[in-house]
Amino acid sequence: MDSIVVRGGAELNGVIPIAGAKNACLTLMPATLLSDEPLTLTNAPRLSDIRTMTLLLQSLGAEVTSLQDGKVLAMSSHDLTNLTADYDIVRKMRASFLVLGPLLARAGRAVVSLPGGCAIGARPVDLHLKAMEALGATLDLRDGYVHAEAKGGLRGAVVEFPIVSVGATENALMAATLARGTTEIRNAAREPEIVDLAQCLRKMGARIEGEGSSTITIEGVDRLSGATHPVVTDRIELGTYMLAPAICGGEVEFLGGRIALVGAFCEKLDAAGVSIRETERGLVVARKNGRVNAVDVVTEPFPGFPTDLQAQMMALLCTAQGVSVLEERIFENRFMHAPELVRMGARIEVHGGHATVTGVERLRGARVMATDLRASVSLILAALAAEGETVVSRVYHLDRGYERVEEKLGACGASIERVAG
Ligand code: UD1
Repeated sequence: MDSIVVRGGAELNGVIPIAGAKNACLTLMPATLLSDEPLTLTNAPRLSDIRTMTLLLQSLGAEVTSLQDGKVLAMSSHDLTNLTADYDIVRKMRASFLVLGPLLARAGRAVVSLPGGCAIGARPVDLHLKAMEALGATLDLRDGYVHAEAKGGLRGAVVEFPIVSVGATENALMAATLARGTTEIRNAAREPEIVDLAQCLRKMGARIEGEGSSTITIEGVDRLSGATHPVVTDRIELGTYMLAPAICGGEVEFLGGRIALVGAFCEKLDAAGVSIRETERGLVVARKNGRVNAVDVVTEPFPGFPTDLQAQMMALLCTAQGVSVLEERIFENRFMHAPELVRMGARIEVHGGHATVTGVERLRGARVMATDLRASVSLILAALAAEGETVVSRVYHLDRGYERVEEKLGACGASIERVAG
């Protein structure tokens, strides 16, 4: 297993291009299943999660060709030869469950493995299933699989979610595009990835209104056509790298970044003492003074502070002046990075969904272990600011969501290398 070795202490200066969003791409890819015409995605990120989704779609009979070094994904689902999403692929990545809605809508039938347990909490799929039932599907859960059927096709309906779920909103939205009649999704997620999906589906001929608000209305159509669509900028990769100059000092420009994608996060950075300037090309980030100030953070659905930036924000606050409280409201058990940061000299106490971080002047390099995708990158951020050498092991987590981390940070002056193991 590869590890990443970081020698901390360098200021960072330079330019980092931000990739297309992993989470948008993972919902745009299954949208190919809705049409027998080609769907081409540009600005795709080059990540192992994208390769996993490619394998899943191919197992269903879709053709997926990666062009231009992986930046373009040319997909075609002319013939669906298999309607079963196998456990071996679904267990690797929860987003695999997003094939359920499209398969049901197009083929009237789908068998999808239930995702296994997940390191950041229970993460059930009950909301996805309720949405499919509301649209007229009958479901049978056996042998670890959901057997779903919509005899005569899906029917438009009101789908009201008790809590905001990104994935369930995406599944319902895709399914509703080919349902007979009107669907209203209430308490829908408002994330930029949902807006991106709706825009792509509209290019394919879907009739959708209200994406980006909490009510999305979909008028079902008989068939969808092909389209070409650029994947929206990855706001989580953007936010993650914005923390690098905040932690290390220096000034870095992030190509493709926009404040609208990371508004709540920018407010917290500003309060901590980090300056953010929007340019025509992206965002320029620099620390205003020496150490940043403590700030309190509560994770919420978009437009609130994203849970996917909580671990990285904690890395910054480990060296802030004062005491910060981070409250995780989206997932239970999402502080697994805390004990690893403590190994680097951080002062963190976790009680349930709250973590109290007392800033220290300097972190120290250590051997640490990545436990999930965002936790792993938080350790790299902390390592950039730490004294001495940090070795982060189990970086396969990192490769699920960040392309060429060493190159991007290395180009700005960080001492970071991958060691094959
Ligand atoms: C997506 C993102 C993930 C991000 C999360 C929250 C992708 C591929 N992943 O995950 O990176 O951290 O949004 O912004 O886009 N829930 C249920 N029942 C369900 C579904 C969800 O109880 O059927 C709960 C979850 O356990 C969680 C909350 O709803 O507590 C929000 O989860 P959700 O928005 O669904 O996350 P994902 O779509 O899985």
